[in-house]
Amino acid sequence: EKGGYEHFMLKEIHEQPKAVRDTLSGRIAKDDSAVILDELKWTAEYVNSFSKVFIIACGTAYHAGLVGKYYIENLARVPVEVDIASEFRYRKPIIDDNTLTIVVSQSGETIDTLAALKEAKRLGSKTMAVTNVVGSSIAREADQVVYTWAGPEIAVASTKAYTTQLIVMFLLGAYMAGLRGTVEDSRMRELLGKLRNIPAQISETLEDVDPIKAFAQQYGYNDDVFFLGRALDYHVALEGSLKLKEISYIHAEAYAAGELKHGTLALITRGIPVVALATQRSVYEKTLSNIKEVKARDAVVIGVAAKGDTELHKYTDHVIFVPETDELLIPLLTVLPLQLLAYYTALTRGCDVDKPRNLAKSVTVE
Ligand code: M6R
Repeated sequence: EKGGYEHFMLKEIHEQPKAVRDTLSGRIAKDDSAVILDELKWTAEYVNSFSKVFIIACGTAYHAGLVGKYYIENLARVPVEVDIASEFRYRKPIIDDNTLTIVVSQSGETIDTLAALKEAKRLGSKTMAVTNVVGSSIAREADQVVYTWAGPEIAVASTKAYTTQLIVMFLLGAYMAGLRGTVEDSRMRELLGKLRNIPAQISETLEDVDPIKAFAQQYGYNDDVFFLGRALDYHVALEGSLKLKEISYIHAEAYAAGELKHGTLALITRGIPVVALATQRSVYEKTLSNIKEVKARDAVVIGVAAKGDTELHKYTDHVIFVPETDELLIPLLTVLPLQLLAYYTALTRGCDVDKPRNLAKSVTVE
């Protein structure tokens, strides 16, 4: 059942090229000019009626929601607010019938997400679910559903659900942009062409595991690990940090790199591993200067960069390279070494990878 892999998590990590390919299947027009989401059949008028989009989820799905906000705002120019389901449902959100609430849930059964969905509906919002399970409670409750086609995810630590949620979020952003005319045709073609290459680039990225195993063995006994990044790199850092905490029980924190010197830099001392993502071109120089700050405190810095980067290695101890793509799409690649790092660190520490202590795959109690 584990297909020759030692754990479901590793199997599911390696299923990502297929999961992403299946989630994209039939959803990009042949000439790359537009996204096709037959399940929605939205009109420009409908999309233009949204004054605001909420994205609500828990855990990894929440992290996918953060990337979703970035995509929808960047491409479709509609304001998006992201919230944790257990916060949203109790905070009297401002919602009306011009609001679209998108809930994201792999299982479709997470109780807080389901309750948040019901609350949004009660307040008059239009609702949509992004879920992996056909016929799940959340799929049934929402007005509209866009499925991720990741296949069953068994390991408690979510991997292929995250990457396929990112794909759906990107498709949604591009779909809304197409209807609103907020992205030029040539840019849309460029993006969708690059999106097509992502499954092959995921395979390529996953081949490069030896250096990651080595880092896991070398740094796997540290008590603390920090993850840094700006823009989309920050959102991926949050996911990498959650993965490491969840299965290796190491205290890990993700920081928006620019926020470090507002407190956290006090924790950076000699030998602390810092995973620094630097793929976002628009803030590249700023990120480099934050990396120099942690390096100056003698942290051990593992950089994550796009191939072709010739700068990062000068300020880091190691660099993990992922294939080049658009900076909007690169989270689909940069998250992979972080998933593998969490996996091999948990192995190094002898943790129960697929069933971490205190956690359940689907949280159906409050
Ligand atoms: O099934 P859901 O997507 O609603 O689950 C949400 C979270 O419980 C889940 O993503 C959790 O954070 C994962 N164990 C993280 O790896």
